[in-house]
Amino acid sequence: MSADPLLSVDSVDAGYGDTQVLCDLSLSVEAGEIVSLVGRNGAGKTTTLRTIMGILQPTSGHVTYDGTDISALDATETAQQGLALVPEERRIFPDLTVTENLELAAHGGTADGDSLSVAEVLEMFENLRERAGNAGSSLSGGEQQMLAIARALVSGADVVLLDEPTEGLAPYIVRDVMDIVAALNDRGITVLLVEQNVQVCLELADRNYLVDQGQIVYEGTAAELGANEDVLDRYLGVTV
Ligand SMILES: Nc1ncnc2c1ncn2[C@@H]1O[C@H](COP(=O)(O)OP(=O)(O)OP(=O)(O)O)[C@@H](O)[C@H]1O
Ligand SMILES: [Mg+2]
Repeated sequence: MSADPLLSVDSVDAGYGDTQVLCDLSLSVEAGEIVSLVGRNGAGKTTTLRTIMGILQPTSGHVTYDGTDISALDATETAQQGLALVPEERRIFPDLTVTENLELAAHGGTADGDSLSVAEVLEMFENLRERAGNAGSSLSGGEQQMLAIARALVSGADVVLLDEPTEGLAPYIVRDVMDIVAALNDRGITVLLVEQNVQVCLELADRNYLVDQGQIVYEGTAAELGANEDVLDRYLGVTV
């Protein structure tokens, strides 16, 4: 009894102009999973998320969401289907308050009525609730990351694509971000998590894909990946 995956990337080629970055890349994410995509600088992680989101179009292959081919949709149309990208740059509005940032996001997403309200999301994010009236620019890096994730939730996304959410954060804030990712997954949101921090993946993800030079070179559970010293050393240059 194996249901179709909620999100699947099938044999995708994609890149920028004449530069091909992704080469025959395939991955799938089941409803309710946290799946990680891990790899070194320049491996093609962000390009994969951009291609899923419709910021880039695949030159070959398909992206399928909930049974629908979304390969040709642009980013706005993809968001309306129920996917949200939290980019590396955490694009929040610095001059707007936390609440205003969330209210704006609530207007940009799906119209299917099962989104979390701004109040519900503030309930989940204690540190944002305390700063609801403060400007985005006054938040710490960790709080801005939380706000970027919270924006994806009020937009009504069923699948959240997180691009290196822990990058540049102090270890105790990394822990807070990981708790939030686990909490939103507990609420039924499916997560595709891009990371360079393999420890975060090993702890959070149900399954992990390793990407190198635009290709998937390994797939495994946390237990499998954590025990595979060869793969960790060869593709990530880390020992755990
Ligand atoms: N706008 C662009 N135009 C041309 N090439 C690009 C562009 N963006 C990325 N690339 C190239 O595509 C390749 C993959 O980049 P990508 O941003 O997907 O890597 P990444 O795995 O997200 O890396 P990082 O960990 O540094 O964020 C790199 O060689 C990069 O130089
Ligand atoms: Mg990147």
